Amino acid sequence: MPPVAVTSLDLRGKKVLVRCDFNVPLEGMKIADPARIDASLDTIRYILGQGAAAVLCSHLGRPKERTPELSLKPVAEYLSGALGHKVALAPDSIGDTTGRMVADLALGSAMLLENLRFHREEEANDRDFSHELARGKQVYINDAFGTAHRAHASTVGVTRFISERAAGMLMLRELEALRAVTENPAHPYVAILGGAKVSDKIGVIRNLLIKADAILIGGAMAYTFLKAGGTPVGRSRVEEDKLELARELMAEAARRNVALMLPSDHVVAPEPAAGPEIEVVRQIPVDRMGLDIGPATLARYIECVAGAKTIIWNGPLGLFEIPEFAQGTLKLGEAIANLHGVMSVIGGGDTAAAIAGQPWAGGFSHVSTGGGATLEYLEGLELPGVKALDV
Ligand code: 3PG
Repeated sequence: MPPVAVTSLDLRGKKVLVRCDFNVPLEGMKIADPARIDASLDTIRYILGQGAAAVLCSHLGRPKERTPELSLKPVAEYLSGALGHKVALAPDSIGDTTGRMVADLALGSAMLLENLRFHREEEANDRDFSHELARGKQVYINDAFGTAHRAHASTVGVTRFISERAAGMLMLRELEALRAVTENPAHPYVAILGGAKVSDKIGVIRNLLIKADAILIGGAMAYTFLKAGGTPVGRSRVEEDKLELARELMAEAARRNVALMLPSDHVVAPEPAAGPEIEVVRQIPVDRMGLDIGPATLARYIECVAGAKTIIWNGPLGLFEIPEFAQGTLKLGEAIANLHGVMSVIGGGDTAAAIAGQPWAGGFSHVSTGGGATLEYLEGLELPGVKALDV
């Protein structure tokens, strides 16, 4: 059952605590990509339009104490521009001054609390801190899908003290998209998994082996699978302690008749860096490392997704931060974005970052704002931030 929607509550005249995931990438004190803020704007505008006051809160980064570089000030400024009124930044997430700002906040306007993680109590899901966060607010809305896998004070603890609670529109969109690709997905169902480590994706692979028809592997984790199957991988990054597990997963795929596809050619270089020695090979020489899938693999993967009705993709296929090793990720992304009649969901994190700004990036059914949260959902785990919305 999806959680109660923000649209089903009576918000008029109330102070609403809205947990957002404004954990955006920064370049100095500037926001490098505001996608996560933009994704919650409809929820915030809806709340304000209902004649309520919105007290927005979020974490930013992983500080253990007050860290000026991780202030939410740039986010408050961005929100002011997006909402068309000044969104004041409170000096803290709790305390008397912040409490007075909340009390004085006019209906129809929003303010932002300072970074929740300036208090260790946030991640500890501390009872008193949760109580303080709840003070002066009558409704709690969680729109922070990206943080829904964390059982923290602002995602779980606070719900003990605010009985009127619901999910925001972004949270509901995210859950609906992931439900569509996990519960009764249309077949053929193709999963694409990339990224650095098999160890990050073990639970996801196990779960997808039950559901998918094909799993296409890329990224550095492909080399662990290739080595496990006896293919030479040169100096490619390999998790030696996961070779046995990779063999087990390949055997399980074969038993279940799931096509577990691995790269058959590679873009290699002596180091993970751009340079004149980059080449495409079928067999990786001993002094080279694989850094992207090659064109023949790309063609096989494109052919596979072209026949799919459901596609879920988590993890880039190469070292996409370096343009020379981003082609596999970008070309497969473009091919998927141009497909019609397919449900295509991009897991957040690096995959969303890799395709951000591409002219075809709007061609997917859904691009998640959650990295870790998407992975945990795909593993079949319950997300504590969603569970806590149960009333
Ligand atoms: C994310 O970026 O995945 C979320 O904002 C959660 O952040 P965290 O991994 O620091 O808890």
